[in-house]
Amino acid sequence: MKAAVINQFGDTDVLKFEDIAVPSPKPGHILIKVLAAGTNRLEHYLREGSVVPEFPFPHILGADAAGEVARLGQGVEGFDIGERVIPMPGFPTDEKDYDIYPASLAPSFTLPGLGIWGTYAQYIEVPARYTLKDDTGLSAEEVATLPMALATAVRAVKEIGNVKAGDKVLVQAGASGSGSMQVQVAKALGAEVVTTVRDDAKGEFAKSIGADLVINTRNEDLVEKVMEWTGGRGVDVAIDNVGGDVLAKSIDAVKATGVVVAFGFTAGTEVTFDIRNFFFGQKQLRGSMGSDIKDLQWGLEQVKTGKIKPVLDRVLPLSQAAQAHYLIANNQVTGSIVLQPWAE
Ligand SMILES: NC(=O)c1ccc[n+]([C@@H]2O[C@H](COP(=O)([O-])OP(=O)(O)OC[C@H]3O[C@@H](n4cnc5c(N)ncnc54)[C@H](OP(=O)(O)O)[C@@H]3O)[C@@H](O)[C@H]2O)c1
Repeated sequence: MKAAVINQFGDTDVLKFEDIAVPSPKPGHILIKVLAAGTNRLEHYLREGSVVPEFPFPHILGADAAGEVARLGQGVEGFDIGERVIPMPGFPTDEKDYDIYPASLAPSFTLPGLGIWGTYAQYIEVPARYTLKDDTGLSAEEVATLPMALATAVRAVKEIGNVKAGDKVLVQAGASGSGSMQVQVAKALGAEVVTTVRDDAKGEFAKSIGADLVINTRNEDLVEKVMEWTGGRGVDVAIDNVGGDVLAKSIDAVKATGVVVAFGFTAGTEVTFDIRNFFFGQKQLRGSMGSDIKDLQWGLEQVKTGKIKPVLDRVLPLSQAAQAHYLIANNQVTGSIVLQPWAE
């Protein structure tokens, strides 16, 4: 099969479009023909070598896919060849961990493209237990934008942030792949949402997906604007995709007893903040990582009712995976870029 393979860490040019053997499905697993592969910033970090110290090369990145069943491993029932499916963008690899909830706490939890070969390929092999039937009625390209960003957004906003109808929620970087889903999940839960961007075009986009207030942090002060919007109180919950200096601002923007959900580190892994405001206000900082199949199921129900819409930035052939990573690295993406493994 064709795949975007890496044989070493490095710049975008380490992504090579090559022939590699098609995996055969193990017992209990499904071989999925990938119709469209989604991309995430995580894969840019993984390619650089800034997340794990080594892979058994050659390695295939990619957590997200929309596809169809190509072959069934021994013992798999309930799926038909050719049926449209969505593999979970993370699951336990050890059957002993299959009942752990949420799955992201399982010792053997990993992602396609991290602990096993990923979706930047014409085929991927995944456990049937972590394969969802795709009854969204959307194109494969639209569906491929969803799994990781949507499932982890549901976990961060609904389960870890515990966002409820009527809450005021701050989502950092609302035009990003993850942020655009977090805005929509918070709105689907009945919250009011303020989000941040750094240019006006992304601001227009953030409004179009439902943000009630957009703050352009290039020329507006985040904490000041949030305090104006909340009558000086602060938001109930902040979802922070950005880390670095931005996380300190998320802490200042939540109300007394408010919750900050740490989700990403685009602006840096080291965070400094004045502890006084934090404990005087009895605030909470919670981490959110990965998701459970229940999160994606809940998210896809919202997609089917039209409350959450996929955000497809553009479609590129898989042979241009390096270009997709260049655009991600340079913050030139609104939503997600999708790669087509079968395009010429
Ligand atoms: N916890 C989890 O389970 C989980 C799951 C998925 C992703 N993540 C993490 O979440 C983060 C976002 O991932 P993604 O795929 O959504 O990324 P993405 O689509 O590439 O978006 C990242 C956005 O961050 C903003 N940004 C970049 N540098 C910034 C800075 N210095 N200050 C403020 N904003 C900045 C940019 O938005 P503007 O240009 O609009 O400002 C950029 O578009 C990554 O760190 C990723 O690893 C975590």
